[in-house]
Amino acid sequence: MPALPIVIIAAVADNGVIGNDNRLVWRLRTDLRRFRALTLGRPVLMGRKTFLSIGRPLPGRESVVLTRDSGFSANGVHVANDLPAALVLGRELGAALGADAVMVAGGADLYAQTLPLAARLELTRVHASPPGDAVFPYWDPSDFNLCREDHHPASADDEHAFSFERWGRKSAGSGSTT
Ligand SMILES: NC(=O)c1ccc[n+]([C@@H]2O[C@H](COP(=O)([O-])OP(=O)(O)OC[C@H]3O[C@@H](n4cnc5c(N)ncnc54)[C@H](OP(=O)(O)O)[C@@H]3O)[C@@H](O)[C@H]2O)c1
Repeated sequence: MPALPIVIIAAVADNGVIGNDNRLVWRLRTDLRRFRALTLGRPVLMGRKTFLSIGRPLPGRESVVLTRDSGFSANGVHVANDLPAALVLGRELGAALGADAVMVAGGADLYAQTLPLAARLELTRVHASPPGDAVFPYWDPSDFNLCREDHHPASADDEHAFSFERWGRKSAGSGSTT
């Protein structure tokens, strides 16, 4: 059976910012709902800083928290001490759940390490340029196809306009998505 694909899910401002002082820097309820919908039933990998910024296990999801601290533990999450171990664990959890992907939910450090492995990017482009100290890593859009794009205006629920974008990695030589 082929290994479950790695899918990155991230909300990225026009200036690349994804967070500041270990927090999100916008209020976008529609994006939180999309995050929930795309991660429910799928294992979720995240860095230790992102886990601490969320402050609790994601309800209804199997989370794998990466840390190099072998003494780290937290209720309700799995812990992995390196990326290969996290990927093995994520894929085992995904197989047990009958999931079709392993989701990577950040932050910047984890995105940078998993971008080369990602089959798909589920991006929320936040149309704002807030100050921040965490940015999404460089990636080359020519390696991916834009499969889907939906625009949303700012509203009472969402403080900025934003666009959902799904990017699928081109398979070698074919230009198609994987
Ligand atoms: N906009 C979005 O979609 C989004 C999503 C998620 C997070 N964020 C933001 O991103 C920021 C956090 O990102 P960040 O880059 O500072 O931290 P991070 O990626 O969440 O966590 C980094 C930590 O993860 C652990 N880690 C990373 N790679 C590892 C590896 N290969 N093996 C073992 N452990 C590993 C290390 O923990 P130890 O130090 O414990 O060893 C490292 O310090 C916050 O501002 C957050 O709000 C934004």
